[in-house]
Amino acid sequence: MSDNRSEKDKNQWNSTFTFLMAMIGAAVGLGNIWRFSYVLYSNGGGAFFIPYFVAIFIMGIPFLILEYGLGATFKDSLSNILKKIRPQLEVIGWITAFLVFLVLTYYVVIMGWDLIYLILSLFKGWGSNPDNFFMTNIVVGSNNLNGITSFVIPTLLATLFMWAVIWFISHKALDKGISKVVNILIPLLFILMAIIVAYSLTLPGMFNGISALLNPNWNLLLDINVWLAAFGQIIFSLSMGQAIAVTYASYLPKNSRLVDNVLIVVASNSGFEIFTAFGVFSILGFMSFTSGMSINEIATSGTGLLFVVFPEIFNVMGDMAYIIGPIFFLCVLFAGITSALAFLEPMTLTLSRKFRLPRVRAVTMLCIFGALLSIIYTTTSGNYLLTIADAFINQFGIILAVILQSLIFGWSYGVDKLLPVLNEYSTIKVGRKWELVIKFILPVFLAIMWIIGIVDLFKTQSMLDIIIQLIIALLFIVVPLVLTILPSREDI
Ligand code: ALA
Repeated sequence: MSDNRSEKDKNQWNSTFTFLMAMIGAAVGLGNIWRFSYVLYSNGGGAFFIPYFVAIFIMGIPFLILEYGLGATFKDSLSNILKKIRPQLEVIGWITAFLVFLVLTYYVVIMGWDLIYLILSLFKGWGSNPDNFFMTNIVVGSNNLNGITSFVIPTLLATLFMWAVIWFISHKALDKGISKVVNILIPLLFILMAIIVAYSLTLPGMFNGISALLNPNWNLLLDINVWLAAFGQIIFSLSMGQAIAVTYASYLPKNSRLVDNVLIVVASNSGFEIFTAFGVFSILGFMSFTSGMSINEIATSGTGLLFVVFPEIFNVMGDMAYIIGPIFFLCVLFAGITSALAFLEPMTLTLSRKFRLPRVRAVTMLCIFGALLSIIYTTTSGNYLLTIADAFINQFGIILAVILQSLIFGWSYGVDKLLPVLNEYSTIKVGRKWELVIKFILPVFLAIMWIIGIVDLFKTQSMLDIIIQLIIALLFIVVPLVLTILPSREDI
């Protein structure tokens, strides 16, 4: 059957709803489910909402408005936008897109773990000691490189499968692939999470969990680390400054209400993570009630929460666990897939624009390369490497990319040029205050955060950790540099 749609139709969101689903999908991910509740709990509880909302208002919203404005104005990849401003800046666009791609290479491995747990949750296949199960069957953790040649076969297979899923969705034209998937998965994700949270609120002990979560520690507001945690959470959770919003906004039709859309995405993202935190802590409260342990002994984040604490809780939940468990791991999978699609898209657009590659070829090449890189995280040294790569790429690479973008667009380009596009159709308008935030407040805040973050990063590290980080740094500089230097098809 011939495809009569124009190229423009194929590469444009078919409705504002789809764009919103894609952007919410990019934002809502593992960070909302396994990270936020613990960040909230360990950084002052209810008091944390102050730095959290400050971070949203002086960073998250203004920066996303900038990214939407750039994408909608230029309708191009971040590297091409930067190249138009000054040719030497192109490489920064490539580095940003490639950094996000590197995040994808380990994010997919975590999705692979989740897939394994989704299957295991059908019969509580993790046994009576989930901690031991995770460490001996899934991570097989060694804290050095000695295990780099031995693979954890279930993780390897699940990771390759998840790459195949991403390829299958992404290689299709926008309206046939990503659009269709986000339109289904995001509403479903919200519904399934609502079921889990509603159920968790019926559990005995839930009240203790929620009051432990929200109990405010106002003194912590004087601790700079609490503020850094809030800003870090917003950058990660909103996938801010990572070329994703620029890319997705470049597929918008002309008459979009850009500022309004930013507010909807930010509200949905925060709503989802706060709502989920209630669910997570109600369930932890139930565990505390059943086991007699304090919330503090049980609460954790990351893989420990998802793959150890939750299976332990499902073990004591009785038969309901056969329903709640699979729904929970399915939620994580849906949140992960929609974020993974967003992580891939900046490199897809950048490659296909510069080298005039058809989408299918760009996506295929990227998925093969990405899968090869992911393999390293499926070895028995994988978890060690993943932890180092995650901290380094986020604390060092991505924050630096956001600082550079706010300086370049704020000062060199002049964000006032975006005002007409931003305000044309939006109900809520932006103006001088927004410009001041991008030019002054953002770079200063982020620079402080970056410096404190890297001092912290290097404080407790071994020589091996530092060497691994240098290799990662080399990778995210050399690959983008080569891609920048290669002549584009337009130049030949
Ligand atoms: N923003 C996505 C998350 O929170 C990447 O996981």
